Amino acid sequence: MPLALVTGASAGIGRSFADALARRGYDLILAARSTARLEAVVQELSARHHVRAESWTADLTSDAGREQVAERIAALPHLDLLVNNAGFATTGKLHKIPLAPQMDMLRLHVMAPMRLCAAALPRMVEHGAGAIINVSSIAGFLFGPGNVNYSATKSYLTSFSLGLDTEVRGAGVRVQALCPGFTHTEIHTEMPHVKRQIPGFLWGRPEHVVETSLRQLAAGGPVICVPGSLNKILWRVLTMIPRGLRGRLAVRRRR
Ligand SMILES: NC(=O)c1ccc[n+]([C@@H]2O[C@H](COP(=O)([O-])OP(=O)(O)OC[C@H]3O[C@@H](n4cnc5c(N)ncnc54)[C@H](OP(=O)(O)O)[C@@H]3O)[C@@H](O)[C@H]2O)c1
Repeated sequence: MPLALVTGASAGIGRSFADALARRGYDLILAARSTARLEAVVQELSARHHVRAESWTADLTSDAGREQVAERIAALPHLDLLVNNAGFATTGKLHKIPLAPQMDMLRLHVMAPMRLCAAALPRMVEHGAGAIINVSSIAGFLFGPGNVNYSATKSYLTSFSLGLDTEVRGAGVRVQALCPGFTHTEIHTEMPHVKRQIPGFLWGRPEHVVETSLRQLAAGGPVICVPGSLNKILWRVLTMIPRGLRGRLAVRRRR
């Protein structure tokens, strides 16, 4: 049986990955902080899809949590798919918001995926097979106020994935930077204004994001995966505007 590890699998997009992969016959390792929520997913999916599933409780913002998961990955006999998905969002200008969550964001969106990729890749390269999905965001192409650290961490994750692909594609390992737009999950629970401000037609479902990602990966599609036709148009337009100008346009829009 193929084996997949999904971080942030207790909710949202990660939970949908767990579901979609179990349906495809993957055994699962599901990681997040909440043991109870992970165990509920493990019980449900193993009963429904007759796959083996286990939970690894870990806070990936902590050095100890990251190292423990990385060491356990390195000790696995094989890992066919790593989904670096765990993440969170904040809003507010950097000089006005508490710094600790911003530092944690760098640890979770940047250090954790890099560390876990480094742990998984030696075995994947040795076997000449395997795949990594780094859940980035279309926000990584934006440079507007109020979200700068989130956008910058996702920008890192996209460019990290593009670079990593050039290193391991020849060895038979595929890498994807999944860049969803607004998706109905728990990530905006603490930010109800986001749901109010963003028009309904711009919101997608996590199941659609995950199906698009897995289909593009299976088809050997491009590294960057942007689910949803509207998001794709937005992304193409954004990438045509010079980076410096993208930030200025966003500031004008908010005046
Ligand atoms: N929803 C969107 O609109 C959207 C758009 C673009 C990109 N994304 C990206 O998609 C990914 C998944 O987000 P989501 O929308 O599905 O959010 P979500 O519903 O809030 O789920 C986040 C998941 O990450 C886990 N997590 C959070 N902090 C963690 C930590 N320190 N260590 C380990 N696990 C942690 C959570 O579980 P615990 O709380 O139990 O740890 C949960 O399973 C994120 O990387 C996000 O940036 C989301």
